[in-house]
Amino acid sequence: MMKTVIVSFSSRAGGNCSQIGKLIASLAQDPVLFDFSGFDLHPCGRCAAECFTTRENCPYFEDKEYEILDAVIHSDLVYFVLPNYCDYPCANFFIFNERSQCFFQGRPDLLEAYLKVPKRSIVISGTNQDHFIQALAYQSDKEPDILFLSAKEYRKNSISGDLLTSEKALEHITQFISRSAKKE
Ligand SMILES: Cc1cc2nc3c(=O)[nH]c(=O)nc-3n(C[C@H](O)[C@H](O)[C@H](O)COP(=O)(O)O)c2cc1C
Repeated sequence: MMKTVIVSFSSRAGGNCSQIGKLIASLAQDPVLFDFSGFDLHPCGRCAAECFTTRENCPYFEDKEYEILDAVIHSDLVYFVLPNYCDYPCANFFIFNERSQCFFQGRPDLLEAYLKVPKRSIVISGTNQDHFIQALAYQSDKEPDILFLSAKEYRKNSISGDLLTSEKALEHITQFISRSAKKE
């Protein structure tokens, strides 16, 4: 069985990202879904950078950061679902990225294992794409594989959170998922 980890980075409950995350989970063989609408990660900085000497001494070691990274390392395929906030990935993505410093500190074996896991991303953006390509390039040892969804192209307003009521959008997402699954 292929273990699939899905991370939906938007904090909005029931929004486009959350719905897409659930859709992927419903189609995957052995899914684990992390939906930021149900938890928060603490950002780096309110600490004494303890992790640079002893990784387990991060004062936020108990939150979901390490659970997500561990799940990714033990998976066969990962989906990131990201919203565009002011032309960049939303803050949850950057928090997730910076907090990985602790997990990988002094553990190049874990970093190598993490980068090796194939990753697919779905980005809700009607504007910028380049910043997402750049940000996601650090998540894998391969070129980022991204499906960009512009609500406007489906005659939707992304703020309404009803992108999946577009049959075309649904079709594009399911095509992206089945193509990825076959490729793996
Ligand atoms: C603070 C904020 C900034 C946004 N900035 C952009 C933007 O620059 N470009 C864009 O295409 N969409 C932008 N959006 C729209 C979101 O990407 C879109 O509503 C997306 O569906 C949000 O994900 P969610 O539905 O899972 O909450 C912004 C939304 C918010 C809340």
